[in-house]
Amino acid sequence: SQTGTAESFAQEIAREGEDMGFKVRVVDLEETEEDLHGIMLDERTRDADGRSRAVFLMSTYGEGEPTDNAAAFFGVVKGKAGIRTNFPEQEGSRKDDDGGDDDDDGFAEEKKGEGDDDDDDPEAAGGNDDDDDVDPKFFDGMDYLVFGLGNRQYEHFVAMGKLADFCLNKAGANRLAELGIGDDDDDLEADFEKWKDEVMWPLLKARYVGDDVPAEGEKPEVKEKLPACPYVTEYLPKDAAPSEPDVIKAEDMHTSTKHYFTSVDCPVSVVRELRTKEDPGSTVHLEIDISKAGDALRYNTADNLGVLPVNDDSIVESVAKALSLDLDAQFRLKPARDGEEHRHAALFPTPCSVRECLARYCDLTSAPRRSELKLLAAYARDPLDRTALLRMASKEGKAEYKSKIMGAHVGIADIVTKLCPSISMPLEHFVALCPRMLPRYYTISSSSSVHPDSVHITVSLLTAERPDGSIYKGVCSHHLAGMVNSGTVRVFNRD
Ligand SMILES: Cc1cc2nc3c(=O)[nH]c(=O)nc-3n(C[C@H](O)[C@H](O)[C@H](O)COP(=O)(O)OP(=O)(O)OC[C@H]3O[C@@H](n4cnc5c(N)ncnc54)[C@H](O)[C@@H]3O)c2cc1C
Ligand SMILES: Cc1cc2nc3c(=O)[nH]c(=O)nc-3n(C[C@H](O)[C@H](O)[C@H](O)COP(=O)(O)O)c2cc1C
Repeated sequence: SQTGTAESFAQEIAREGEDMGFKVRVVDLEETEEDLHGIMLDERTRDADGRSRAVFLMSTYGEGEPTDNAAAFFGVVKGKAGIRTNFPEQEGSRKDDDGGDDDDDGFAEEKKGEGDDDDDDPEAAGGNDDDDDVDPKFFDGMDYLVFGLGNRQYEHFVAMGKLADFCLNKAGANRLAELGIGDDDDDLEADFEKWKDEVMWPLLKARYVGDDVPAEGEKPEVKEKLPACPYVTEYLPKDAAPSEPDVIKAEDMHTSTKHYFTSVDCPVSVVRELRTKEDPGSTVHLEIDISKAGDALRYNTADNLGVLPVNDDSIVESVAKALSLDLDAQFRLKPARDGEEHRHAALFPTPCSVRECLARYCDLTSAPRRSELKLLAAYARDPLDRTALLRMASKEGKAEYKSKIMGAHVGIADIVTKLCPSISMPLEHFVALCPRMLPRYYTISSSSSVHPDSVHITVSLLTAERPDGSIYKGVCSHHLAGMVNSGTVRVFNRD
């Protein structure tokens, strides 16, 4: 996962799986870097029958490339499978001249069956059988399913889902079902739910639970109790001076939020409107002083500058009020199960104030996913709020969700402050439930040889009208344009 969708799907599987009696462990693929075999096929992961099982949720980035945290994983599995290319099926199809795999059947694509010529021939699949690393029994004893996340607008649609599915099979794992596919250009969450509820759970339950297979489309019962929280907050004394965040080792940072720890605060020296008064909209030229950032911010022209946005004060304050949080309180966020799996556990730098947490690390304005509405429902004290949230989170409520949440551009802030004000929860539950604030990228327009000490970007201010006539202001573009009387922005270089 690069931006958290696959990760949130994994957490949803874990929550539902535990409710059904499975013992589920969510593994960030970056964790497999040192000992893939140990993590996936260790004795502790195996049943009495000696088998282990895994569900892979694979997003695709770049031009058919892995996410940063899956790069090392693919290095290993491609080696074990004897595959060099990222597109083995395409290579195989070309050699076979069978017209390629361009099925378009919703959530699952037709795959070549086992025993297919290409499937058994690494050369036909762009493979490399000279490699000593090839091990067709590496994943022996593992049953697996893959769900690929992607966007059909890209040439190499769900390439990493396809590659994982292909390589795991070649390296000895047993494929339980054909690849599931989700399209972010359409309704990715619906694709995932359909696959999860109609393919994955029935299959896993039939195979491992036996006679308790849910009817088609049946969903696990929603529990009324408060969901378990993976974090605890440790508040600093009220009169404590503002504290510097703890120093966190790279391997302890959560992989999808590393930029929270590695970004640098840089002063903005120039903000200039580029459009005339007659011209509708706003586009600004920004110059950011990187003279004190050192090696952390060396750049080349046309690199992409990552900017960590800050939520508007009024939104932060309204959320704090709705949840009865003290904005000035400082806290440290810790894993709830002390001593267990500390690697990659740090979500964002703490100690920090509640204000900093809500302003910088919580995405308060994007439309929540349906699975997040379901989680929010568990915290609503008013049965009407709870019913409305559960209805929109359900399959039947999809149309209502699309119009009232997606179409109306409602964020978590709107839900807890206006739509369902009976929602109440402790900070650590909100942190666990609310999606992380994502960085925004801006293509650097300055020349690094002419301006080694400053980065110039051109920012188009995003403004959208909601159906009720109110105006949505893009979080980051407005944060940047608001730097008129100087100020600092938190940035990193993506390339
Ligand atoms: C590689 C790359 C390079 C880029 N380079 C540039 C560049 O050089 N210049 C540039 O200007 N941009 C660039 N972008 C786009 C930029 O990163 C941001 O996406 C853009 O500035 C909008 O961010 P925002 O935080 O202002 O908007 P956001 O707050 O992220 O809003 C984004 C979208 O969500 C909708 N939305 C979300 N929540 C709500 C809500 N509650 N109500 C209403 N609408 C909502 C908005 O209508 C909008 O469509 C680039 C993007 C990438 C990936
Ligand atoms: C910069 C960028 C590049 C992408 N490249 C591809 C691609 O090559 N193929 C594809 O199917 N999807 C591509 N996608 C879509 C993502 O895979 C999709 O949005 C996915 O849901 C993201 O999941 P994540 O939040 O877990 O990272 C790309 C998305 C972005 C933002």
